[in-house]
Amino acid sequence: MCGIFGIVTSNEQPLGNILLDASRRLAYRGYDSIGCATIDKEGQIDLRKDVGKIDEVNKRLRFDTMKGQRGIVQLRWATFGSPSQVNAQPHLDSKASLVGAHNGNIVNNVSLREEFIAEGMIVRGTNDGESCVHAVERYINQGHTMIEAIRKAARDLEGDYAFVIALRNEQNASGDCPLYAIKNGSGLVVGIADQATCVSSDLPSILPVTDRILRLQDGEMVALWPDRVEIRLVSTGELVHRTPERFTKGMEVAQKGGYVHFMEKEIHEQPYTVAELTHWLAASPHVDPFVKALSDAQHLYFVGCGTSYHACVVGAAYFNQLATIPAIAVLAPQFTETLVHTLKPTDAVVFVSQSGETKDVLNAVNATRLAGAQILGILNVLGSTLMHASNHYLPLACGYEISVPATKTFLNEAILFLYLADKLRRHGSRIDWGTVPDLIAETLTATDSAARHTANLLNPHDEMYYLGYGVTLGIAMEGALKLKEITYAHCEGMLSSEFKHGPLSAVHGDYPVLFVAAPQDAAMMVNHINEVACRGGRSIVIAAPSKLLRDNADEYLPLPDTRQELIALLAVLPLQLISYYMSTSRGINPDFPRNLSKTITVD
Ligand code: M6R
Repeated sequence: MCGIFGIVTSNEQPLGNILLDASRRLAYRGYDSIGCATIDKEGQIDLRKDVGKIDEVNKRLRFDTMKGQRGIVQLRWATFGSPSQVNAQPHLDSKASLVGAHNGNIVNNVSLREEFIAEGMIVRGTNDGESCVHAVERYINQGHTMIEAIRKAARDLEGDYAFVIALRNEQNASGDCPLYAIKNGSGLVVGIADQATCVSSDLPSILPVTDRILRLQDGEMVALWPDRVEIRLVSTGELVHRTPERFTKGMEVAQKGGYVHFMEKEIHEQPYTVAELTHWLAASPHVDPFVKALSDAQHLYFVGCGTSYHACVVGAAYFNQLATIPAIAVLAPQFTETLVHTLKPTDAVVFVSQSGETKDVLNAVNATRLAGAQILGILNVLGSTLMHASNHYLPLACGYEISVPATKTFLNEAILFLYLADKLRRHGSRIDWGTVPDLIAETLTATDSAARHTANLLNPHDEMYYLGYGVTLGIAMEGALKLKEITYAHCEGMLSSEFKHGPLSAVHGDYPVLFVAAPQDAAMMVNHINEVACRGGRSIVIAAPSKLLRDNADEYLPLPDTRQELIALLAVLPLQLISYYMSTSRGINPDFPRNLSKTITVD
C-alpha cells in the first residue's frame, strides 16, 4: 500500500536525506517503486523515480543529493498500472508546473484519463496518482487558485485516497512557498516543526521531524507553509481550527498505530485491506486472464502451507459450491509427493503464499513447471519468487504483514477466492463488493467483547477442538492454527461430522468444543453440537443469528446477518480476536511466538 510524505521549509536546504529517512519509515507498508521531487527557490522541479528498493534506487538516482524548499517522497505499491518508471510517483502535470503524489485508489481512473486526454492534457502513464495531478491541472488551467482547484478536483475523484501536491512558482510576499494535501479515506497526519511543516500517510515518518502533530479528518485539505498550516473543509472551503497535539509515546507505539501489538493492528486494518483488494480487482486487467486460466483448466488444484492452505480449503469450497468447478485444496509438500505426478499441461495449479518464498510451496511450483501445467500465483509480496514463477498472478494488496500470525493476508486470500468464484458463479446473484469492508468493520466491533469473553472461557484449557462444516471447515482450521500458534495450547480444527469418528472420546467435564456454522449447515451442526453437549462438553457456537443454534449451544457468539457466503468469512474475525486475547492474557507476545518465523524458506 502506498505511502506519501511531503515537507516545506523556509530556506532552500538539502532535503534528500529527510525524504529518504521518511521513505524508510513508510517502507513497512509495502512498495515496488520510489520517487522523490524537490522544488527549489526558483521554482525548478527536480523529479527522480524508478522501480526498485529504496537503497538500490538511491544508489542510481542519488535522492540523497536533492535540495529545495519543498519536497515530496512517495513509495508506490502498484494497483492501477504496472510497476514501471512512468507509473512511479510523484507525477507532473502536462506543463511540469504541478508535482504531486497520492496514496489510495481513484476508482474512476480509467474514465478520468480518457477525459484528460480529450481535453488535450499530456497523460504519461496509467497510474491513478497521475489522475490526481491532472484533476488539479484542469482547474488551474481555468484560472482557479490552488485551493479552489484542489477542492474542485476532489469532486471529480472517486475512491479512497490522500494526495500531496505543489505548484512550482507559487510564492507569498515573504518568499515562502506552500504544499497542499487532501484526505479522503486514506490516512494523513500533519507535523509542525520550527521553520518547517510536513505531512505524511502515517506518524512514524513525521516523528524524526517533529512531535507536534495534527490529524486530518476525511473531507479536509491543508495548506502547509514553513511557519503555519491552514486546514479547510473541502466541501465549503471554510477554515477549521484545530490545536496541535504532542505525540510523546515514542516510535514503536507510532509504528503500531496506537495498538499494543502488530497483530492487533493488522486485525483492525482488515476493512481497509479488503477495500484495497476489491477496488484493485474491480479495475485490474490481470483478473480476466487469471479467470480464463481457471476456467480452461481440466483439473484445478489450490496449493499452499499453513494459513495459506486454509484459504485454499475455503477457496475450494467456494469454487465447488458457487462456480460448480471442481477444485482440490492440497498442502504443498503433499502435492509435490502425490498429485504432481498426475499433472497434465491442460491442468492449472493456484499457489497461495503471503511471502511468495515458502520453500515447500516453491518445491511444488518447480515440480508443476516440469509437468508443464499452468502456474497461477496469489501472493502478497510483489517481486517474490512465486510472482516471477507464475504464468499469471494476483496480489493480495495487504501491505507488509509484520506479525508472524497471518491475519489480514488470510482474509484477503479467502476474499480473493470468493471474488473469483463469484465471477464464475453459476447460480445466485453477484456479491455487492462495495458493502464488504463495512461488514468487516461492523463484525470486528460487534464481536469484540464476546471474543474477550470466549478467550476467558478457553484460557484455563490447554486442549480443545474447533469444528467447521462445508465452507466453514477452512475457517475452523485457520482459527485453530491461530490459537495454537500464539497461545501454545493445542487446538485441532476439523470437519464437525468427523468428530464422532474418534476425537469425541476426548470430551469430558467442561471440555471446550467451538463450532463455526454457516446458515445452510445449521441443521446438520445441531447434531454435532448435541453429541458434545450430552457428554458434558462445553459447546461454543459462532454463527449468524439462528434460534436453532442458539437454543442448542452453551455459548453463542453471533455474527452479523448477511449473505451466507460472507458469513463464513466473517467468522474468522472473532477467531483471530479470541487467539489474540488469549495469547496476551497468557503473557505471550503474539507478534513473535516461540520457535516460529514469518517466512519458512527451508524444507
Ligand atoms: O508465506 P506463506 O503464506 O507461504 O506462509 C505459509 C505459512 O508458513 C504461514 O501461513 C504460517 O502458517 C503462518 N505463520 C500462520 O499464521
